[in-house]
Amino acid sequence: MLAWSPQPGPQTAFVNCPVFDVCYGGARGGGKTDACLGDFVLHQGTHGRAAKGLFVRRKQVDLASTLERARQVFGAAGARFLEQKSCFRFPSGAVIWFRYLERDADAENYQGHDYTRIYVEELTQFPTPGPVDRLRAALRSSAGAPCGLRASCNPGGPGHGWVKARYIDPGAWRIVTERYASPFDGALVELGRVFIPARLSDNALLMASDPLYVAKLQQSGSAELVRAWLQGDWNIVEGAFFDNWSPRNVVRPFALPAGWTRFRALDWGSARPFSVGWWAICPDPFEAVGEGGAPLAIPRGALVRYRVWYGSTGKPNEGLKLTAEAAAEGILAREAGEEIAYAVADPAIFASDGGPSIAERMFRAGVPWRRADNARVARGGAMGGWDQLRARISGDEAGPQLVVFSTCRDFLRTVPVMQHDPARPEDVDTESEDHIADETRYACMSRPFVRRQPPDAAAEPLRALDALTWDEVLRRHDRRRRDWV
Ligand SMILES: Nc1ncnc2c1ncn2[C@@H]1O[C@H](COP(=O)(O)OP(=O)(O)OP(=O)(O)O)[C@@H](O)[C@H]1O
Ligand SMILES: [Mg+2]
Repeated sequence: MLAWSPQPGPQTAFVNCPVFDVCYGGARGGGKTDACLGDFVLHQGTHGRAAKGLFVRRKQVDLASTLERARQVFGAAGARFLEQKSCFRFPSGAVIWFRYLERDADAENYQGHDYTRIYVEELTQFPTPGPVDRLRAALRSSAGAPCGLRASCNPGGPGHGWVKARYIDPGAWRIVTERYASPFDGALVELGRVFIPARLSDNALLMASDPLYVAKLQQSGSAELVRAWLQGDWNIVEGAFFDNWSPRNVVRPFALPAGWTRFRALDWGSARPFSVGWWAICPDPFEAVGEGGAPLAIPRGALVRYRVWYGSTGKPNEGLKLTAEAAAEGILAREAGEEIAYAVADPAIFASDGGPSIAERMFRAGVPWRRADNARVARGGAMGGWDQLRARISGDEAGPQLVVFSTCRDFLRTVPVMQHDPARPEDVDTESEDHIADETRYACMSRPFVRRQPPDAAAEPLRALDALTWDEVLRRHDRRRRDWV
């Protein structure tokens, strides 16, 4: 078996990268998994028994194919696989363990361990960065070997949003450094992170050995998914719950004309973020400006999200832990001078656990709420909250019925990338950062949107389906489809 060596381009950059936290991501088949395995071979070659590796994925089943390849790459370096322990031991004394973190709490099992390399495969399969970040504390070496976190991923998946914000948005190949002061002597240290883009064309070995792979990728799904997997395009969100979200749902901020009704909505959280959204109702067709600078028509009745207070520490899905009183004070300060017609909130805040409820405490602090309709999915013929939100995002011929100011960064970071719950596709994946989506759902349910029927369909007398010819049925069906897509 031949020893592993990196291919020219990003794979070589990845194995030589001195930065602490490296994310290698993008196209399918770009050579990411191989790069991680090969990186450890080289790392242990330099640091010998001081090299300790941990390779993690979200799910156990996903590890099988990686283990298969690891047997080849590590085997060529003389490593033995110890099946019972799911680890490889190298002749140098170096060891690498293969584990999975199916539940966030699994990350706690690594407290007190030390590793010089942690590889996280398919980082976007982690809905939040919590468990991966927890592992960072295990990156230490008393033997003085350099430590590093190495992640790989493709666009899409429940963690698409946070991975994109943390690694991709700052720009490929750009090293972002964070400074930390020692609590003991105040000394400053810096930790860097960088994103290395993977492109399929960089994997010359695969392109040569399987010239049809590109065509197979092209057959693998929607045009969006193909773009993401072929070129590593992170601006798509295949499989997003709100797959109808588009740039026309984002407007440049403008001064709300006097007379627009304003209201607010709340999804409460303490350890998790809370979200307060301020919404205005557009009373007449209004000409705004889209994020790209082109005119954007806001139709009558559309909801305009003009302000947000996202109660997060700035770390994904981590709440500010404010008291109800402090949150009420913050809300009043932000909306000073505005007339708020009504306010709806997560019904959970009305629950009292012995003491006064969050709703009651906010009420006493001058911020009353009314219970929001919390129906998530359709029941008994009534539209559920997610359908309402989706219908508003699509809007009608006149334009979208829900637009947000481009300044609502956390909204744009989390809502368009919400994923389906794998077990209940009609619901969102509640493991993801869903607080702003929930709050928006409450806002939408407070003003149910009914799409106007196109005039011809409304005028057409309804006949029982069985009285129609098959051609007529198909024509109707087509017309409906055209109306709704
Ligand atoms: N340096 C290398 N030497 C030998 N083979 C390589 C090398 N790099 C990549 N390959 C081969 O190319 C193919 C695709 O690589 P790999 O599985 O690492 O891609 P990937 O980016 O992890 O793909 P996915 O996105 O599907 O997880 C594999 O068969 C792999 O063994
Ligand atoms: Mg891979």
